Amino acid sequence: MNSYIELINKKLDEFIPVQYPESIFKSMKYTALLPGKRLRPVMCLESCRIFGGNIEDAIPTACAIEMLHAQSLIHDDLPCMDNDDFRRGKLTNHKVFGEATAVLAGDALLTFAPQLIIEKSNLPARTTLRIVEEYCKAAGAYGLVAGQIADILSEGSENPEAPAVLEFIQTNKTAVLFKLALRTGAVIAGADEAQLAVITGFGQKFGIAFQIADDILDETSTFARTGKTSGKDKDAQKLTAVSLYGLDGAKEKLTALVSECFTILKQQNIQSEIFTRILNKISIEPSVRD
Ligand code: IPE
Ligand code: IPE
Ligand code: MG
Ligand code: MG
Ligand code: MG
Repeated sequence: MNSYIELINKKLDEFIPVQYPESIFKSMKYTALLPGKRLRPVMCLESCRIFGGNIEDAIPTACAIEMLHAQSLIHDDLPCMDNDDFRRGKLTNHKVFGEATAVLAGDALLTFAPQLIIEKSNLPARTTLRIVEEYCKAAGAYGLVAGQIADILSEGSENPEAPAVLEFIQTNKTAVLFKLALRTGAVIAGADEAQLAVITGFGQKFGIAFQIADDILDETSTFARTGKTSGKDKDAQKLTAVSLYGLDGAKEKLTALVSECFTILKQQNIQSEIFTRILNKISIEPSVRD
């Protein structure tokens, strides 16, 4: 896993050279290169490997997905969204570069990512087209944007449909990027539709589990552990797994989903130390993680 992360960090740095006007490239690089967990690009490379592909072929796509993720973090932290001052242990993008540059750096990452896939992937044109289509669907109003607006609209509202709305938010703001990473890795490896359906099912469950773990950490963890200000979800009256099901209820759901993810891997005979390690990491009893 560490060798994947090192490779991704090296390539991310290479793929974004700083040129005139420097402030935009510096702002893009700032958040993209801060030490995040790099789960999405790692899972993209690993999905490519388990379906028999060459991970080198998936590197531009893996880095593009991390750029899309960085964009989502920059915009998520803006004062008009979650209004956060810290990300990945450092000041948020708009705190360092100002709001105008942060908005534009997000836009630039969002659009540079598919450009990178097209320019740097050495894949058959049909495969590249399919990956870019999946990228666009995941990034926009049929994915991430839908999840983020539903998340913002959920603030402070009493909604009788809350369980369905929460699932919509978790699916679109979070699971979508994990599914994108896993599916594109598999497509690059030449996986068939049945294999794609399996990895998509795994990504959906993993993504929801991951967001539940994030919601639990917001409630129980510390800045030293997460690199973010804790307690923000409660302050903003967000609809989260914790607000809807309580801390214990959220933990139960997390445990159940992680176990379902392990079952998929076992039933499908997918052997991946990396997936196992990531699943174990998110399922550790959050209260003892600090
Ligand atoms: C943060 O994702 C956004 C959520 C979906 C909760 P990560 O927890 O993967 O953030 P980094 O990349 O490690 O900073
Ligand atoms: C994550 O939701 C969704 C995206 C960043 C797209 P959160 O708002 O809970 O993520 P954090 O906690 O700020 O990382
Ligand atoms: Mg948010
Ligand atoms: Mg946030
Ligand atoms: Mg959160």
